[in-house]
Amino acid sequence: MIIIGSDHGAFELKNVLKEYLTSMGKEVCDCGTYDSSSVDYPDIAQKVCEKVKEEGSEFGILLCGTGIGISIAANKIDGIRCALLNTEYAAAKAKQHNNANVIAMGGRVVGPDLAKSILDAFMNAEFEGGRHQNRLDKIHALEN
Ligand code: RB5
Repeated sequence: MIIIGSDHGAFELKNVLKEYLTSMGKEVCDCGTYDSSSVDYPDIAQKVCEKVKEEGSEFGILLCGTGIGISIAANKIDGIRCALLNTEYAAAKAKQHNNANVIAMGGRVVGPDLAKSILDAFMNAEFEGGRHQNRLDKIHALEN
């Protein structure tokens, strides 16, 4: 299950990515927002991240106008490693090195085709472990 959520700044991009994932046969849980009226992105970040921590979820996708606010909010939640992505290169590294469990993008920054390529690059990469796991352990230690 892939968990997705956006504020009003990326409502259209959320629908594009949701449809893209569904067309690949992926199960998607949509945590809102469900129309273009203004909402507060920390509320969406919280909903998505709590679901990401549940058994059976693969990863989360958070979208706002820039991706900045919603990724900042997500990274305040224990156990969440949210990567703000604007390139396919960073998307692959976010999985290989950071084992990100949430990715963020900006609906006013990346177009639909780039957003799909970024998503593909993240989903097709594998966490490399080793020295990267040591660093993730140190990030986890910063939470306490
Ligand atoms: C909402 O207008 C906008 O501030 C939000 O979508 C996001 O870009 C914040 O970082």
